[in-house]
Formats: sequence, structure tokens, C-alpha cells
Amino acid sequence: MLVDLPPLTPIMTALFGSTDYMVRAAGGDFCLPGAVDYQPLHSDVGDRRGERTPFSSYVDPSGAITTRELPTPYITTNFFVVDMTALSGPTRQIPGTQNSRAPFPGLEDEPEWMRLSTVCAAPAGAALIRDVRAWHRGTPNLTDEPRPLPNIEFYAPWFREPILSSISYDHLLGLTDHGRHITRLITADSTEVLREGWQVRATPPSTDG
Ligand SMILES: [Fe+2]
Repeated sequence: MLVDLPPLTPIMTALFGSTDYMVRAAGGDFCLPGAVDYQPLHSDVGDRRGERTPFSSYVDPSGAITTRELPTPYITTNFFVVDMTALSGPTRQIPGTQNSRAPFPGLEDEPEWMRLSTVCAAPAGAALIRDVRAWHRGTPNLTDEPRPLPNIEFYAPWFREPILSSISYDHLLGLTDHGRHITRLITADSTEVLREGWQVRATPPSTDG
């Protein structure tokens, strides 16, 4: 339902300069009451390291150009399902860091303006559109309610990473022409059976995604 939202289409088209951008996946995060720790500052994309990195396909062996110097390769839109307040685990987003090669500062080393740079208050139904190279982190949820934050992730027309089919052929048939176009990398053909459903993973927070 979030893949092809008419209000989002002209914005993504303007940001990528084309209607040929692509959906990478649907994802997001989910912050439960009692999650009182800060996630480390990180980016959601970087240069490819080694032969077996699952993501981050770009690398310049000379080191002259990194994903930091390129136009944005990857934009995520997070959807606020509940009202986002200062206490409900708002995303901390550091403006202007999408092109920075500086190492991520630890919480103790950050200037105050970074510590206070949260995306709130915003009502349920709002969206956060972000260049995933920019530094960000999750913050504590000090309310009594879960704070879900689903997203849709988009690639620029020229960018690729290894990705999996995640939309079945039957669901593909329910999309608009534009929806089919932007999901062209992740739709299964009619002979492919996808593993669908959900799973619970008890893993510590990642520092890079
Ligand atoms: Fe992230």
C-alpha cells in the first residue's frame, strides 16, 4: 500500500530527476516502550568493502570518489503511524552530513545541537524523507506505547545493490503502471514462489543499518 503513494510520486521524481527510480524494499524500525538506549549514529549506505558485503555495491579503488561525493543513490521515506513526540523515540537526523567523510562521533563527543536534532513533533500520517547517507540514530521511547516506523526505500535510477524479489506476481497485478515500473527490480515472475510472512529476530541493534 505504501509503495505507490500519489502524493509521494512527484517528490521522489523531483529528488531523483526522473520517474525511473526504483523501490528497493519495505522496511523500517519498531521501538518498544522500555527501549531507553540511544542507537549509535550511522548511515544506511556506504562503499563496498571486501567481496562479500551484501549491500553497498559502489567502490572506487582509487579512493577518489565515494558514495559521499555522488548524487544521492538511495532515499528512504519513513511513515509516522503514531504521533511523533520528543518522548516517543523520534529519529535523530543530522542535517548536512550526507556528504561528510568524517567518522561518526560518539554520543559524548557530539555538540548539543546534534543531540537535540530530532524529527518531531509530527502527527501520525506525516512522513520523513531522508538521504540515507546522512547521519541518524534512534532515540529512547519513553512513552507507554510502541512506536512503529515503517518505510519504503528507493534507489536512484543509476544505482543497484544485490536485492531479493519481494513482491509476488499476484500483488504485482494489483499495482498501477507507475507502481509496476518502480518495483521492477523486486517483483517475482509468475513461476516464482516467494517466502512470505514474518519472523521475530532477537538481535542487538546494528551499527550500520
Ligand atoms: Fe539507519
